[in-house]
Amino acid sequence: MRTIAIANQKGGCGKTTTAVNLAAALAKKGLRVLIADLDPQGHATLGFGHNPETLDKTIYHALTNVQISISRIITGTNVEGLKLAPSNVLLSGAELELSGVAGRHLVLGEQLRMVSSEYDVCVIDCPPSLGLLTLNALVASTDVIIPVQVNYYAMEGLKQLLETANIIRVHLHPCSVKILGLLLTFVENRIIFSRQIQQQMREYFGDLVFDTVIHRTVRLAEAPSAGESVLTYAPQSRGAAEYMALAEEVIEGRPSEERTSDDETVAEEVVGGEPSAEEKSNGEDAAEEAADSKLWMRR
Ligand SMILES: Nc1ncnc2c1ncn2[C@@H]1O[C@H](COP(=O)(O)OP(=O)(O)O)[C@@H](O)[C@H]1O
Ligand SMILES: [Mg+2]
Repeated sequence: MRTIAIANQKGGCGKTTTAVNLAAALAKKGLRVLIADLDPQGHATLGFGHNPETLDKTIYHALTNVQISISRIITGTNVEGLKLAPSNVLLSGAELELSGVAGRHLVLGEQLRMVSSEYDVCVIDCPPSLGLLTLNALVASTDVIIPVQVNYYAMEGLKQLLETANIIRVHLHPCSVKILGLLLTFVENRIIFSRQIQQQMREYFGDLVFDTVIHRTVRLAEAPSAGESVLTYAPQSRGAAEYMALAEEVIEGRPSEERTSDDETVAEEVVGGEPSAEEKSNGEDAAEEAADSKLWMRR
């Protein structure tokens, strides 16, 4: 089983949106997929229409009690081939409860190993911190995807991202996880600054950046409130197409595939990069973007 953590200590950069929609896209491609919600906020759980407050067994129980197999807390979703290990606010106590336990960073990996023959891929939605939960996710994973929000603060974010990558590398020490890629999210082609940042990210990080970028769209923002992934909520939308493209990149492998945590620092992996070919928008996209800008201007 391939295990992909979606991690970045920054909140609101698109981790849950990526975990939910990548998991759904991989399932749509015929893979047997498990999504593990490792955030006490339970957003991925909500994103598949489960009310976190009414669940009596969640990933918290599997992490804090070795007697409870993760298979007992896994539940179905409205996507064929996709199962969910749900979470709720109880999980916020897990870090403290595990703090005195030997091998506390290994519990998730041990639980996932028990079900590894039942799934082709496990996608882990990490919380917005680099604490014990994220460490468990990274240790359990073969790959990590870091969503990066392309916005006006991205240049500042870039510095923080380098720190994140370095912190992750330090945390990676006991495991073999590799950074599969940086995923640019909230991209807005109409905004010159957004294009400049995309270009700078590619120049700086080279092939570490996924070819696929995720545009800011209304449908992606709306889907969670319907309790669905965008793949079923709006299958013809740009967001659905982009997450399907990301799933393809993930399945087909990346130029950086051989990269491991022992490699050179990210900053040294500078390769010149062309701006993405994904930058064209069709009529539907333009309409969605227009609606989008109104929505965001109202906030
Ligand atoms: N590409 C996108 N376009 C529009 N809204 C988005 C997009 N990605 C995420 N969002 C919205 O932005 C908010 C934060 O995204 P989320 O995926 O929850 O981030 P994180 O898990 O990193 O905190 C959510 O309300 C989500 O619906
Ligand atoms: Mg989240």
